[in-house]
Amino acid sequence: MTAVTDLDVFPPSPEFAATANAGPELAAAAEADRLGFWADQAARLHWHEPFTEVLDWTDAPVAKWFVGGKLNVAYNCVDRHVLDGHGDQVAIHWEGEPGDSRDLTYNDLLAEVSRAANYFTELGLEAGDRVAIYMPMIPEAIISMLACARLGLTHSVVFAGYSPTALRSRVDDAEARLIVTTDGQWRRGKSAPLKEAVDGALADGEHSVEHVLVVRRTGMDVPWTEKRDAWWDDTVAVASPEHEAQAFDSEHPLFILYTSGTTGKPKGIVHTTGGYLTQTSYTHHYVFDHKAGQDVYWCTADIGWVTGHSYIVYGPLSNRTTQVVYEGTPNSPNEHRHWEIVEKYGVTIYYTAPTLVRTFMKWGHAIPEAHNLSSIRLLGSVGEPINPEAWRWYRKHIGADKAPIVDTWWQTETGAIMMSPLPGVTATKPGAAMGPLPGISAKVVDDDGNDIALGETEAVGYLVLDQPWPAMLRGIWGDMDRYRETYWDRYADQGWYFAGDGAKVDEDDAFWVLGRVDDVMNVSGHRISTSEVESALVGHYGVAEAAVVGASDDTTGQGIVAFVILKESAHGGDADLVAELKAEVAREISPIAKPREIHIVPELPKTRSGKIMRRLLRDVAEGRELGDTSTLVDPKVFEAIRNS
Ligand code: WTA
Repeated sequence: MTAVTDLDVFPPSPEFAATANAGPELAAAAEADRLGFWADQAARLHWHEPFTEVLDWTDAPVAKWFVGGKLNVAYNCVDRHVLDGHGDQVAIHWEGEPGDSRDLTYNDLLAEVSRAANYFTELGLEAGDRVAIYMPMIPEAIISMLACARLGLTHSVVFAGYSPTALRSRVDDAEARLIVTTDGQWRRGKSAPLKEAVDGALADGEHSVEHVLVVRRTGMDVPWTEKRDAWWDDTVAVASPEHEAQAFDSEHPLFILYTSGTTGKPKGIVHTTGGYLTQTSYTHHYVFDHKAGQDVYWCTADIGWVTGHSYIVYGPLSNRTTQVVYEGTPNSPNEHRHWEIVEKYGVTIYYTAPTLVRTFMKWGHAIPEAHNLSSIRLLGSVGEPINPEAWRWYRKHIGADKAPIVDTWWQTETGAIMMSPLPGVTATKPGAAMGPLPGISAKVVDDDGNDIALGETEAVGYLVLDQPWPAMLRGIWGDMDRYRETYWDRYADQGWYFAGDGAKVDEDDAFWVLGRVDDVMNVSGHRISTSEVESALVGHYGVAEAAVVGASDDTTGQGIVAFVILKESAHGGDADLVAELKAEVAREISPIAKPREIHIVPELPKTRSGKIMRRLLRDVAEGRELGDTSTLVDPKVFEAIRNS
């Protein structure tokens, strides 16, 4: 990475600062009284019953925020705006992949969410029950999430690119009673089956699912199970549009979202109500400088990931945002799609991932230059470190060399943005998330928890969060031991949250997040664990052993490289087998987890205690000289690996 010292700095422009939501007083207020500051942020929301205490941390590491308060998330995201006289404001400009589109006002959203809530109630679902949502980016996906929130049902959104096996393991873990899905989903002009995948996942009949609700999207034929399955059009669409929201406790579980950890089994990250909505609302308002009724906001994430939860659904809607939601891929039907959408709706705030910025760079700047992007006034980045070249390109070619870029660091576990520059306040450096937001506290420390000295550019440490924050996860669904082990045991003496990221702090106190320090890979901003892919590979009859590493990749950040040892019995040409193994991983997990390369090798490098030395495999995958091999049982294995 470029040396920290010779980087240019981009101070906020006086014009932007003049109207910015944030000012220096925000940090001053948080420093003077952290909990008082969060109480003020909670006042952004409507509370049916006020809270009596801001934070109860006596049961650490399980926090209670806004103790005793009661609220309804859907009321805050929808009803409130209608009651305030903004029912006719567009909430969602929805753009379908094949070119169809639909505008939903806050009035429309209220009617649709109420209908869905009435039908979910008719099905006998009760507060606390779990609902799986396995859908493409269509308004009904957002409506389903809000209907769950309205009823206190805990949703578990499963990315629609996941396989039936991945869906099933998530449905089982959460014991979902209902799955909401679609007949199929559009992908580059083709209809891919989704209901069929649900049926595949539920084929053995031994599961918790009582109902499958199906939205018609592509019109394709679907398998059907009488009594269990229902069409949205026959049920939700004809239900009453009147529904009164009840308030739920601030700590009522709002959703579970599964994410990869260091072991094969995904973790069900649990988020609750009051603290989560407070911090998503606060960060969306200040980090994106969002002005209700004026801005047109577009976050390009999928609701299958946390960014979609926090920055398409809950943060923006709680702030009465008018936003674009796009169903498809950025190059369907061609590479102009995003910029056509920006022009069509006059998008002012655009939030995407570095991998997409690098893809745009590859496609060339002539493409955005063919469009009028002058409406854009702020750009955001999330998902992985953004390399300085991509940052500069983004600002120059998409932001007309003046839109501030907010590089936002956070995680599924943190629920909301934790580190980011504040537009209009913070001078930014290309590639740095800059520092914790007001109200948030973070440090970079060594193994023993000592601060890494400022500006020690060679000294890389671990990112920790040393104070609880409102949107923090409240645990791992059904596995509180794993919660403690994963995040809190590492710095148990200090009581800090271990984020799993390496980071450094430069001489100006700016934070640079460098990437994961555990066995989690980051491919196009998606978290995939090495062991998840290894289990999928070993699940193939021909594979005896597999080791997977993330190797740096110009476009996707990291690419998955696998080394496999075959069983004696495996036959067939290596090329066929490699293709088969790639397909197996896509089938078992998702096409996003498909290895970029698979090497068939005679042996794997192991330490004397039998641990695979991934560091050395990464050297091989990235074509580097090998690092220290002295702890290997048999350093000669590399000759065999390199020759294979
Ligand atoms: C990485 C996505 C550097 C990081 C919201 C983190 C980042 C993981 C950034 C969480 C950023 C996310 N700079 N790294 N701005 N944003 N990351 O759970 O490694 O899908 O731990 O949440 O992505 O990924 P997750």
